[in-house]
Amino acid sequence: MSIKKIIAFGSAKGGVGKSSITASIGISLSKNNKVGILDADIYGPNQDILFDIQEKPKFENKSIKPIKKNNIDIVSMGSILDDDKAATWRGPMLSSALRQLINSTAWEDLDYLLIDMPPGTGDAYLTLFKELNVDYFILIAINNILSSSDSLRTISMLNKLNVNILGYIENNIFNNKKEELNFIKFNGIDKLGSFSFHKKIFNFDPDYNCDESNNIAKKIEKII
Ligand SMILES: Nc1ncnc2c1ncn2[C@@H]1O[C@H](COP(=O)(O)OP(=O)(O)OP(=O)(O)O)[C@@H](O)[C@H]1O
Ligand SMILES: [Mg+2]
Repeated sequence: MSIKKIIAFGSAKGGVGKSSITASIGISLSKNNKVGILDADIYGPNQDILFDIQEKPKFENKSIKPIKKNNIDIVSMGSILDDDKAATWRGPMLSSALRQLINSTAWEDLDYLLIDMPPGTGDAYLTLFKELNVDYFILIAINNILSSSDSLRTISMLNKLNVNILGYIENNIFNNKKEELNFIKFNGIDKLGSFSFHKKIFNFDPDYNCDESNNIAKKIEKII
């Protein structure tokens, strides 16, 4: 198995579109590349729902076989745990579950492995960056003072962990007018693009051909 590049999508702030944008960029990148998505949100997995995964993954020689949807190899705790069972693990158990997902998955050869990060700056981040050679981090931010402040906390954590930040994606989830968009000021971090509110992202349609997502994917292909 060889994975050419690993890109984590995250932000300390919850609900800013990390999962939706990871899935959307994954779909765009998969047009020209082999793509995998690892849902690293153990408490609130969503990739299984976005890609309408109903089946449980197969285990072969103690390895998890990713489930293929829309030509993307996907591993999510959501398709391993029963829907109505919330994981209520303490930090060490969360880390060990994430470590197992990372180390026990038999990925096929991939051009890009995208990681959908949970909110926060805690255990999941420390475990992920310890267990995996993450090449780049893409920050997801909405134009709002609270999101911006949490993003600065994320940046400070990434700097401490020596993680390369490829850039940020602005999720203009409320379709604010240009003059209302003035909260995001991250020194030295490039803007890769922005998303507006789309009904087909809100009610996630994996067949939606999103121009904004395609443009950002093209940028990523060019830089990496
Ligand atoms: N560009 C968009 N257009 C329409 N709806 C969006 C967009 N981005 C996000 N959403 C919606 O906003 C909500 C939050 O998005 P999402 O779950 O992807 O965020 P998240 O950052 O992954 O959240 P969490 O921190 O809980 O993991 C969801 O209901 C999603 O459908
Ligand atoms: Mg999420």
